[in-house]
Amino acid sequence: MIRGKLLLGMLVGTLLITSQLFAQADMVEKRQKLMKSNGEAAKAIKAAAEAKDYATIEAKAKDIMGNGDKILDFFPKGSTQGKTKAKPEIWDKWEEFSKNPVRVKKAASELADAAKAKDDEAIAVKVKALGDACGSCHKAFRAEKYPE
Ligand code: HEC
Repeated sequence: MIRGKLLLGMLVGTLLITSQLFAQADMVEKRQKLMKSNGEAAKAIKAAAEAKDYATIEAKAKDIMGNGDKILDFFPKGSTQGKTKAKPEIWDKWEEFSKNPVRVKKAASELADAAKAKDDEAIAVKVKALGDACGSCHKAFRAEKYPE
């Protein structure tokens, strides 16, 4: 009887751990999707800046601002399983990490303003600032390659 309970306990434990691992893999996928949509928005912004398509620049900058609000939720502690380039430093230096989405949002918001004002010079400056804001988080917290 006791043995049965132990086995049952172990089974439940294994199931819990397995489902947590699945949840984390899911999280990695979700955040990569979020980042991909950032990448697509950034690409669209560059093309739109060349075409002087101010409405698209503004809309995509706002998409990036919206994504910025979600970034931190997609990096729960321990979500390092599977095919991810997220460095463990993210959780050691959470305070520093968590400042980056704020910077991205600020740069995107200034870009949206510049697009609204149809100010090409400011747009060029803000596109670069946005790229730098994304890049500085990647430089510190994203690995070059997936772990072996
Ligand atoms: C808070 C830090 C942070 C910010 C800010 C950030 N990124 Fe990322 N980004 C990451 C990390 C970490 C990864 C790796 C995620 C993984 O592999 O689990 C990543 C991955 C990516 C990827 C690859 C996604 C894939 O796996 O296919 C792209 C593209 C990307 N980011 C674009 C951007 C753009 C564009 C911005 C700015 C608008 C941005 N990121 C802002 C941290 C950040």
